[in-house]
Amino acid sequence: MYSEKVMDHFQHPRNMGEIEGASGVGTVGNAKCGDIMRIYLDIDENQIIQDVKFKTFGCGAAVATSSMATELVKGKNIKEAMQVTNKAVMEALDGLPPVKVHCSLLAEEAIHAALWDYAEKNGIKIEGLEKPKSDIHEGEEEEEEEY
Ligand code: FES
Repeated sequence: MYSEKVMDHFQHPRNMGEIEGASGVGTVGNAKCGDIMRIYLDIDENQIIQDVKFKTFGCGAAVATSSMATELVKGKNIKEAMQVTNKAVMEALDGLPPVKVHCSLLAEEAIHAALWDYAEKNGIKIEGLEKPKSDIHEGEEEEEEEY
């Protein structure tokens, strides 16, 4: 069901932890499953992401996608980091089962939230970056519950 890469990143997550005095911090939740993700970015004066760490209260797929997402944004500039979408993360992991696709949104949104925090602190604007959601389901139509 899970690719070897997903299993590897789940069992040996990269960049787990936190950064004290980070340039930007973003937290996003998924109200439907209760999972939470926080991303810390350390960005230098050239807008390069020097370090990134994540913390999650989440399922295995959320851990694996965050781990891969942090690997993908490390060393990039903030514009390049905007291109690390959940799709790019899933591709890098050789796919996720369809029911787990929403888990990969947490990492993307948390990175955006951390970039937003950085931009606000520094009074800059990042092209294409919108105000982040605090929950990945925010703004969605209410789904009918089926029992
Ligand atoms: Fe909640 Fe995966 S089940 S993020």
